[in-house]
Amino acid sequence: MERTTLGRTGLSVSVAGLGCGGHSRLGQSQGKSVKHSVSVVRAAIDTGVNFFDTAAAYRTEEIVGKAVQNCRDKVVISSKLGVIRPGTDHLGQDFLTADEFVELAEQNLSRLNTDYIDIFHLHGVMPNQYEYCRAELVPALEKLREDGKIRFFGLTERFIHDTAHTMLQRALSDDFWDVVMTGFNMINPSARHRVFSQTRAQGVGTLVMFAVRRALSSPDATAALIGDLIARGEIEQVGLEPDTPLAFLTETGGASSVIEAAYRFCRHEAGADVVLTGTGEPAHLRDNLTALSKPPLAPELLRKLEAHFGQVDSVSGN
Ligand SMILES: NC(=O)c1ccc[n+]([C@@H]2O[C@H](COP(=O)([O-])OP(=O)(O)OC[C@H]3O[C@@H](n4cnc5c(N)ncnc54)[C@H](OP(=O)(O)O)[C@@H]3O)[C@@H](O)[C@H]2O)c1
Repeated sequence: MERTTLGRTGLSVSVAGLGCGGHSRLGQSQGKSVKHSVSVVRAAIDTGVNFFDTAAAYRTEEIVGKAVQNCRDKVVISSKLGVIRPGTDHLGQDFLTADEFVELAEQNLSRLNTDYIDIFHLHGVMPNQYEYCRAELVPALEKLREDGKIRFFGLTERFIHDTAHTMLQRALSDDFWDVVMTGFNMINPSARHRVFSQTRAQGVGTLVMFAVRRALSSPDATAALIGDLIARGEIEQVGLEPDTPLAFLTETGGASSVIEAAYRFCRHEAGADVVLTGTGEPAHLRDNLTALSKPPLAPELLRKLEAHFGQVDSVSGN
């Protein structure tokens, strides 16, 4: 598994990271056992993955902690805490105070069974929550860093509601953030000009989520999403088969599947450091790590994707 440097953190990370949240949560959402989920993390480690992304909200921190207990110093742990009081509207304004945030972060550490978290993110911040976060919660992150409990500051967007990256565009005019996590995929590549151009200039490390999600992992969902974009007049039908609009990606000389194409598309985007793959299925993990080790898609396919979807910024693919 190839490694890269995660922006100004200087951390050496695998270009594929295991996402321990999303719809799968390492299989926990499908009722898999803790033992099974630990084995998914271990299989990723055995294939050369050293980057693991979890969060308080995913309820997989204990699983990650268990899986890495014998190799903690060889892996990079990214975890997160929401900025809104648990149990209240996550899009609202009932914010944690700085003291409450620090207190809850201690629980992330204990669930992960570790003394430090490499990258600690404010989780899923909405545009109208950002000003509070910068004023009140950045000092909380500073306190955690001074105490040696976290190493680098991270920030993740709420891509489902903020598909055009409004929050991250604002945040990147500040210089607090060592790492950001953004949504990016073949159908909504708008992070290219709104996020990666900035992070590259500033040396901010980037994590990509939503490479595949539901819309690109199921042919029916792909057709429905693209059908909606056509119906709304956001893209043209011409050149896209209604039932199999992305079939051109797997024609002669193309990718072996749409999912493979989706991960390769993200992996080779300039400015995308770590592409997260979220799964609870060992066979999917194997396929996805193979996909993330393959070369870029052919220029002709990239041109077609750009012509069809290059201007889309209204969907996440959730
Ligand atoms: N705002 C935030 O901070 C935020 C939000 C969302 C996600 N994240 C992070 O980003 C990570 C990646 O999330 P994502 O959901 O965007 O991941 P993703 O890799 O784009 O999509 C994962 C989904 O695709 C399915 N899938 C994966 N590989 C497959 C394959 N080869 N064949 C068929 N189906 C496949 C998975 O189901 P199976 O389990 O069946 O494989 C899962 O439902 C998360 O785990 C989390 O760590 C962060």
